[in-house]
Amino acid sequence: MPNFDAMPTSPFTRLNKLLEGVTHGPDPIVMSVGEPQHAPPDFVLPIIERHLAEFAKYPPIIGPEPLRQAVAQWVKRRYRVELDPARQILPLVGTREGLFSAAFVAVPEKKNGKRPAVLIPNPFYQAYSAAALSAGADPVYVNATRESGFLPDFASVPRDVLERTAAIYICSPSNPEGAAANGAYWRQLFALADEYDFTVLADECYGEIYTETAPTGALEIRSETSRSLERLLAFHSLSKRSNLAGLRSGFVAGNAELMAKLVQFRNVTGPQLPLPLAAVSTAAWSDETHVVANRALYAEKFQAAQAKLGNRFGFHIPAGSFFLWLDVGDGEEAALKLWREGGVKVLPGGYLARETAQGNPGKSFIRVALVNDIETTREALDRIARIL
Ligand SMILES: Cc1ncc(COP(=O)(O)O)c(C=O)c1O
Repeated sequence: MPNFDAMPTSPFTRLNKLLEGVTHGPDPIVMSVGEPQHAPPDFVLPIIERHLAEFAKYPPIIGPEPLRQAVAQWVKRRYRVELDPARQILPLVGTREGLFSAAFVAVPEKKNGKRPAVLIPNPFYQAYSAAALSAGADPVYVNATRESGFLPDFASVPRDVLERTAAIYICSPSNPEGAAANGAYWRQLFALADEYDFTVLADECYGEIYTETAPTGALEIRSETSRSLERLLAFHSLSKRSNLAGLRSGFVAGNAELMAKLVQFRNVTGPQLPLPLAAVSTAAWSDETHVVANRALYAEKFQAAQAKLGNRFGFHIPAGSFFLWLDVGDGEEAALKLWREGGVKVLPGGYLARETAQGNPGKSFIRVALVNDIETTREALDRIARIL
C-alpha cells in the first residue's frame, strides 16, 4: 500500500513504548484510555438472553427497522430533526469503522483536477488520518489551540487547499480537548462546505457527555439551511453515552445520497451489527435515565478535579467529553513522571497530534481520562496534584 508508511501509530503503542521497563508507583491507575468504567445499563443482559437465537443469523447491513426507528426518535428528541429511518440512518459496529468507511464515499479520485485533501483537526482521533490516507487523499492537519478555542479554524486554511478539499473531519465535543462547536461554528463550517463543495464528517461520539449544556449538533444546524442535510454525515455512539464500548454500536445519519453510497460500500466491506446487540442498542437509544445518571457521575469527577487542580495547568471543565486536557509543559515527561512516581498512566498529548509548521499543538499537554469510579479518580487526582 503506497501510503502505509504514513499511517499513524496508535498513541497507546507509543505510550507502551515510552513506559516499557519503567518501574512504576504502587496501585496503578489507568487514565490513558477513554474506556468508561461505569456499569452498563441493567437491561443489556435480559435483552441479549431474549434474542440469543439471533446470533445464528447474518444481520442485514442496514440493521433492523426497530433500531433505525429508535435512532430517528432519539435524533428528534435530542436535535429536533426528523430523519427518514430507511434512508438517513445506518447502524455501525462502533463509530470507528464508519468514520473510516466514510472517507471512501466522500473522497473522489480528483477534486478540481487535483489530488484531494481531507482536513483533520490537530490533535485528532487517529482513525481520521488512516481513513484519509487509505482513500487516496492528503491529510491536512489544522491546529486546534487555546487561541482558536481548542477547535480548528478551517476557514484559515489556504484557498488552494480548500479548493481540493473533499472532506473534513470535525470532532465535537472534541477528543482530547473537550471543546464543543456552537451554532456559529457549525454555520461557518457548513457555509465553507457549500462554498468549496466538501463533505462534513461530524464525529459526535462525546455529544451526550457534558456537564452543563447539551452540545449543539451538526444535524440540527445543518437542517436550518438544508432539509436534505446536504454534505453531512454525523456519527454517534453508545460507547460513551451508555458505557457500552465493548458492545460496538453506533450510527451514522445524514444526507440520503451519501448514505446510499455508504450502504453500498459497507455492504461489501463493512461489518454488520449482530441482531441481539442491535436489540440492546434499540433499548439504549430509547432510554435517557441511564444517560442522565451517567452524566452525573462524570460531573462529580469534574468537580473533584476542579477542587484539586483548579488553578493549575490551564485547568477548565470541558464543555463535553470526560477528559482533562492539562498543559503541563512537556506531556511526555509528565506522563513518565506520573507513571514512575505515582503509578498513574496518562497519555502525552503530543501522541494525539501531528507536527505542523506551527509545531505539535499537543506537545505540552497530557490527556487524563476520568473513566474510573469517584474514589479511584480522587486518589489519582491527589497523586497528579502532588507529583506534577
Ligand atoms: C473521537 C472519537 N471518535 C470515535 C471513537 C470511536 O468510538 P466507537 O467506540 O463508537 O467506535 C472514539 C473512541 O474512543 C473517539 O474518542
